[in-house]
Amino acid sequence: MMTGSALYEHVEKHFGWARAAEFIDISPEGLRSAAGWQIRDAFGHLLLASEEARAALLKFPPPADPVNPLSDNDYSYRLVSALHDAFLTDDVVRRYIGEQPVSFLDFGCGSGRILSYLAQFNPPNTFAGCDVVPGGLDHIRAVGIQGDFRVISNTPPTSFETGSFDAILAWSIFSHYSQSYGDIWMSEFRRLLRPGGLVMMTFHPPSSIATLRQDTRPLAPPQETFDAIEADIAQTGFGYRPCYERFEDVGSDYANFGITAMTPEYVRSRWQEQFELREIVQNAVHGWQDMAVFTAR
Ligand SMILES: C[S@@+](CC[C@H](N)C(=O)[O-])C[C@H]1O[C@@H](n2cnc3c(N)ncnc32)[C@H](O)[C@@H]1O
Repeated sequence: MMTGSALYEHVEKHFGWARAAEFIDISPEGLRSAAGWQIRDAFGHLLLASEEARAALLKFPPPADPVNPLSDNDYSYRLVSALHDAFLTDDVVRRYIGEQPVSFLDFGCGSGRILSYLAQFNPPNTFAGCDVVPGGLDHIRAVGIQGDFRVISNTPPTSFETGSFDAILAWSIFSHYSQSYGDIWMSEFRRLLRPGGLVMMTFHPPSSIATLRQDTRPLAPPQETFDAIEADIAQTGFGYRPCYERFEDVGSDYANFGITAMTPEYVRSRWQEQFELREIVQNAVHGWQDMAVFTAR
C-alpha cells in the first residue's frame, strides 16, 4: 500500500529531508508526525522544485514536454496532481480488494501519469494500460514501466482477455465521453473484469460546471456549451457536447470525446444491471471531478 511513511523513508534514503529543505519549506519533525497526505504534498513540491530530487527519487519520470495533447497538461499536473491521484486510486483499491496483488488496467492512461507512481510504489500489482493515442504509451515503455500497454480503438472490444483484471481505472475519461461511449465502454469493462472486480471512474458532477465555466485556456469550450449541458442535465441527468474539434487529430473520435457532466443519480442507476455503485468519492479531482467506485455483478 502507498503510505506517507513509505514516501518519507524513500526521500530520507535517496535524497535526505535535510537536503530537501534547501528546495522546499518543510519541517522534518512535522512531516514525521503527519498523516500521509502532508508528506505526499511535500514530496510533490520537492519534485517540482528540484531536478536533482527528480533524478534521485523518480523511477519513471513523466515526459518533460507533452507527448499526448489530450492528457498532458502542465508539468505540475503530470508530477504533483498525479501523486495525489495515485494515492487516492491505491487507497480505493486497497479498501475494496485488500493487500493481495491486483491485476490493474489504467484505461485511457495517457502518458502514464498515475501509473508511474503506482508502478514505483506498489510493485505487487501487475499493470496494463491502454489509450487511443500511441505517444503516451511509447513514453511509458521508454521509461521502463513493466506491463502490458496497448493502443486501442475508439470503440470496443479491446484485445485484452475476458475476465483478466481485478481493477480498472478510468481517470478523466467519462468526464469526456458521449452517452453511447459511456455505455459501450462500461460493458467492455464488465467483460474485462473478474466477478466482483472494481471500476474507478471520474466524472464531472453538475456542481463542477461553475468551475468549468471559469476555464480560460484557449481550447476551453464556449459558455453556450455549458448552457446546453446544463439544460440536458435538467432533463435527463446527463449532458454531453463535442468541443475538441479544434485540437489536432491524434486518433481520438471528437464526435464522442468532448465535455460531459452527469448527476450522481445518473451514475447510480445507469449501469446497475452490470455494476453495483459502492461509493462516490467527492472532489477526487480537486474541485473538478468526483470518482464513482463500482463492483462488477
Ligand atoms: C484527460 S486525459 C486523461 C489521461 C489519464 N487518465 C490521466 O489521468 O492522466 C484523457 C485520455 O483519454 C484518451 N482518449 C481519447 N479518446 C479515447 C477513447 N475513445 N477511449 C479511451 N481513451 C480515449 C486520451 O488520449 C487521453 O489520454
